[in-house]
Amino acid sequence: MSQLSRIDQNATAQDRPRHIAIIMDGNGRWARGRGLPRPAGHREGVKSVRRVVEACRKHQVEALTLFAFSSENWKRPPTEVGLLMDLLISTLRKEIDSLHKNGVQVRFIGDRAPFSDKLRKLMESSEVLTRDNPGLQLTIALNYGGQWDIAEATRKIAAQVQSGDITLSDINPELLGKQLCLAELPEPDLFIRTGGEQRISNFLLWQLAYTELYFTDTLWPDFDELCLVDALKSFARRQRRFGQTGEQVERIKGA
Ligand code: FPP
Repeated sequence: MSQLSRIDQNATAQDRPRHIAIIMDGNGRWARGRGLPRPAGHREGVKSVRRVVEACRKHQVEALTLFAFSSENWKRPPTEVGLLMDLLISTLRKEIDSLHKNGVQVRFIGDRAPFSDKLRKLMESSEVLTRDNPGLQLTIALNYGGQWDIAEATRKIAAQVQSGDITLSDINPELLGKQLCLAELPEPDLFIRTGGEQRISNFLLWQLAYTELYFTDTLWPDFDELCLVDALKSFARRQRRFGQTGEQVERIKGA
């Protein structure tokens, strides 16, 4: 392999995120700006989900994780919560065959206990149907919270200590990381939040430790492939150092 093509390959591998995580914010404001009720914004937001899934497949992103309903979203008015649940059910029913046909593997993270039987069954059947698919790994976070995720992992580890399977000295970040949601995926390389706020909002707290953060004022229903490409370009310009110096990183990249 020539020097140029090796550098080129390195650049490609490092400049493109393997895993993107998104907080899809701004549906309500999109609707209000048009004099529409908030549900209209959420319905339009579903169209952006479809566009972004397609764009991720096109741009060879391996994994996409979407924050669709946080553990704090239950505090919204009951009518809006109900609408979001109905929208999740109808969207899954409508889209799952096409996702499957396109090789997308669908998974859900979060505490499923409070959801209706109907939604829980649909989540399970979508996961079973698509589990062997080789394409984009689409994870939908529902009733998910980063603090919940870490607390659950801690509980599992405490149980292992209690049963004598491990001892206290076995506990380290790697062990804890293996008990978290998304343990089988590479950690997100790029985090995108639409809608102008610059917060993590209890999303993947542990998993975002070294993720590049990208915030845009674009409201989620307006987010399309071009917006994703802007985020990809911003990512490609970043130097990811993971604690090393810039010079060390350049040396490794050029080797
Ligand atoms: C935040 O906007 C958006 C949500 C809480 C819901 C996002 C859900 C969808 C787009 C549906 C996703 C469906 C699937 C199947 C993944 P906001 O209401 O907080 O907007 P605002 O900040 O302007 O009020």
